[in-house]
Amino acid sequence: MKIESHYELSDLIKPEETFCKKANIQNNDLYEKANHNRLDFWEEQANQLNWDQPWDSVLDWKKPNAKWFVNGKLNAATNCLDRHLTTHRKHKTAIIWESETGQKQTLTYDQLHKKVCQLANYLSQTLGIKKGDRITLYMPLTPELAISVLACARIGAIHSVVFAGFSANSLQDRLNDSESKCIITTDIAVRRGSEINLKEIVDEALEKATSVKDVIIHKRTNKTINWVSNRDHNFDEAINQSSTTHKPESMDSEDPLFILYTSGTTGKPKGIIHTTGGYLTHAQYSTKVVFDIKDDDLYWCTADIGWITGHTYLVYGPLLNGATVFMYEGTPDYPNAGIFWDLIERYSISIFYTAPTAIRAFMKSGESIPKQYNLSSLRLLGSVGEPINPEAWNWYYTHIGQKKCPIVDTWWQTETGGIMITTLPGLHDMKPGSAGKPLPGIQAQCLQDDGTTIHSGGGLLSLTEPWPSMARGIWGDQERFNEVYWSKFETYFAGDGAVKDKDDYFTVIGRVDDVLNVAGHRIGTMEVESSLVDCPKVAEAAVVGIEDTIKGQAIIAFVILKEGISESANLEQELKQFVATKISPIAKPKTIIITPDLPKTRSGKIMRRLLKQAANNETLGDTTSLANPQIMEKIKQLIK
Ligand code: PRX
Repeated sequence: MKIESHYELSDLIKPEETFCKKANIQNNDLYEKANHNRLDFWEEQANQLNWDQPWDSVLDWKKPNAKWFVNGKLNAATNCLDRHLTTHRKHKTAIIWESETGQKQTLTYDQLHKKVCQLANYLSQTLGIKKGDRITLYMPLTPELAISVLACARIGAIHSVVFAGFSANSLQDRLNDSESKCIITTDIAVRRGSEINLKEIVDEALEKATSVKDVIIHKRTNKTINWVSNRDHNFDEAINQSSTTHKPESMDSEDPLFILYTSGTTGKPKGIIHTTGGYLTHAQYSTKVVFDIKDDDLYWCTADIGWITGHTYLVYGPLLNGATVFMYEGTPDYPNAGIFWDLIERYSISIFYTAPTAIRAFMKSGESIPKQYNLSSLRLLGSVGEPINPEAWNWYYTHIGQKKCPIVDTWWQTETGGIMITTLPGLHDMKPGSAGKPLPGIQAQCLQDDGTTIHSGGGLLSLTEPWPSMARGIWGDQERFNEVYWSKFETYFAGDGAVKDKDDYFTVIGRVDDVLNVAGHRIGTMEVESSLVDCPKVAEAAVVGIEDTIKGQAIIAFVILKEGISESANLEQELKQFVATKISPIAKPKTIIITPDLPKTRSGKIMRRLLKQAANNETLGDTTSLANPQIMEKIKQLIK
């Protein structure tokens, strides 16, 4: 496979000297230490956490099974909270939250700790939830979600956060796969001015999710909702009736901390497992060195806790570092396109971490909007989730960062647990469009299909040494874990194509498998296809991605209707809605093309590559292996 960069990368841009002089990392010492002895280096990072019991050895590695900080014991919530209570951070603000409707909440470390202890007591004492039990969290981005995450961690229950935009169907699948005993939710979520009744979705999901015995509902409104006695419990009442002191569970370093579902190449999402000691070590370390976190920063990561970015860089990483986190429950374009800049001005936010899709949307509405706000509090910007094109990078740098804030373009994945490749903001020159170098302690290479290393040029991105926050498995399917990540090469295969240049910077181009990246969300083509064929009107479906100026990629679905079903005016809308309801609005195809047939090989395999080329208006590749080559002409006409 030949991987080439689409972009012409421009010159290196130096970070401002004033930034560099105060940066947490100003020289190459960390790289030198890590290169000299990687395990000593990681041990030093792990020592920044509080452990109940020290480890016997740093790493036990039997590919693909890693054990980091073997036999060490610690608790994630006490590391995020309790250890700050004996310092000046006790009354420091931990979370500042605002909602789209202007609701506000502020919690100090002390207050957050108390609430977490209260919920932990309720979960363990009243509901009898034990270490290792799974709890699903299906909530909008509110402080109560962070409290729930930490309460699970405190009692050793494994949290599985499901993004509140997922449908009842998707939620049900995840509840069943994880065999969750309990779900914590809210009555409503607010999105772009409308209320979504989350509890109704939960009730529907629970019709066929029998492992769940208890539902805790954070009630945000006084509206009457369906209430099942003996199963449903009120979040606020649960907290208020419980003690504010709680003895945390001492967890083994390798005990799972959470499961997070993400898309793969099959229709079934993968429950990625992260464990405690290694994950926390990397979360604390990477937040400190990449985001340059200091005590007086106000740090805003715009991701939802439903994604890995929210886990690592909205909850665990910043709280481990005793930072003040800003959380906003809302979208970048509602009630107006200036809302993010308004928040930055009002709260004096200093570090801002968002996704390229948002930046491209801001660009589209024009620089006159951010110009109306005072953004001088910003000192560092970040980007994550998909490749950022140099044009969007430059716009972000110029109009948001006022050419004084370094940008960290951070490449990583749900499976890597934390940032793997980026520039360090006070140390490296930036190259718009390129993520940068592997962090100290991380090794990456571009490989050829046969596994040989490409020293300069394009290839398949692989992480070549184990690292503490690496995924330990797929929940209930270790075989799939081995197959997806560890069978192609001797080392971890990320599924991305990348180019390594003469400066050893990595430019990540995108997925090389059947996974799409729509607005920074991973969506498997198979997931959308299987939801489409679930529709009684659809016989067959093939899904491909096309380039989209705002979302990076958009979904096009080619659909064959069942015998006797004819095209109608609203059929396209109906099918789009079907996918939105089955999976989530984020997986909704942009276009549906009804076709009499799909390009297939003689063995019946759909050639998505040809559909992709046709949809992107590219010259078609080899069609000789098709059983029905004439169909491509027809499809080309349908696309027009
Ligand atoms: O293709 C890469 C892209 O997002 C994928 C991981 O998606 P997910 O597990 O949902 O995690 C997103 C947040 C970490 C990767 O395989 N990706 C992520 N960050 C970048 C990126 N592609 C290019 N540049 C990035 N900075």
